[in-house]
Amino acid sequence: MTTSLNGKVALVTGGSRGIGAATAVRLAREGADVALTYVNGKEAAEDVVRAVEAEGRRAVALRADSADAAEAAEAVDRAAEALGGLDVLVNNVGVGVLGPLEDLSLAEVDRVLAVNVRGVFLASQAAAARMTSGGRIITVGTCMTQRVPGPGGTLYTTSKSALIGLTKALARELGPRGITANIVHPGPVDTDMNPADGPYAAGQAAMTALGRFGTAGEVAGMVAYLVGADYVTGAELSVDGGHAA
Ligand SMILES: NC(=O)c1ccc[n+]([C@@H]2O[C@H](COP(=O)([O-])OP(=O)(O)OC[C@H]3O[C@@H](n4cnc5c(N)ncnc54)[C@H](OP(=O)(O)O)[C@@H]3O)[C@@H](O)[C@H]2O)c1
Repeated sequence: MTTSLNGKVALVTGGSRGIGAATAVRLAREGADVALTYVNGKEAAEDVVRAVEAEGRRAVALRADSADAAEAAEAVDRAAEALGGLDVLVNNVGVGVLGPLEDLSLAEVDRVLAVNVRGVFLASQAAAARMTSGGRIITVGTCMTQRVPGPGGTLYTTSKSALIGLTKALARELGPRGITANIVHPGPVDTDMNPADGPYAAGQAAMTALGRFGTAGEVAGMVAYLVGADYVTGAELSVDGGHAA
């Protein structure tokens, strides 16, 4: 285990709010310089940049729409060029479209797969091309890949399940170069995507063993653990309050 990320550069996709913002600040607290992407929330992204700088680290916010194949890949190069290399990629960006199977439009299917799968694949490919030994690719999945709690999650769960295969295959492909790839499965986490006071929150909390939502900081802690873990790769780690128990 390394104890400090001093001198390391991390890119957190979708880092302007929620789990991504908490992860950006956590990695900065441990010593990393941090790039983050956003698509709409420029002001929120700039707030995270200031929070990273308050930890004494460098930060850059990049507008890059993960639904766009070129932008998803180029964000990695932009981050590396701005901060001088890339050691850690956190594939945090994700969109959730839930609803009955019959109501999902082709446009929704294409958008969710573009952001949650294609963009993650292309960012990982671009990061792998730049990383050297010690590199880390950490992807945010979901507890719904471990246990689907009810109907309405076909598209989202399909997309996130693809990331498990990506992670295991990346671990095999990049292991010989000393680069690890792991996936974190959050349970219900209080963010704009899934507010703890939302209409479906009580049922989600009840599905966990701990009976509560998690915080973005708790997921960020798991990501930080994986950044420091030298002998963990191809792993699925749940930070889900026991949703899968
Ligand atoms: N919250 C949960 O309960 C939960 C549970 C399991 C897994 N997850 C996963 O955890 C990850 C983070 O979720 P969250 O709850 O923190 O989400 P969130 O609160 O909705 O935040 C999403 C972040 O991603 C950015 N983003 C959205 N679409 C983007 C795009 N096309 N290109 C670039 N950036 C984009 C947003 O930036 P803008 O403001 O600019 O749009 C924002 O910074 C996702 O992969 C999600 O699937 C969440």
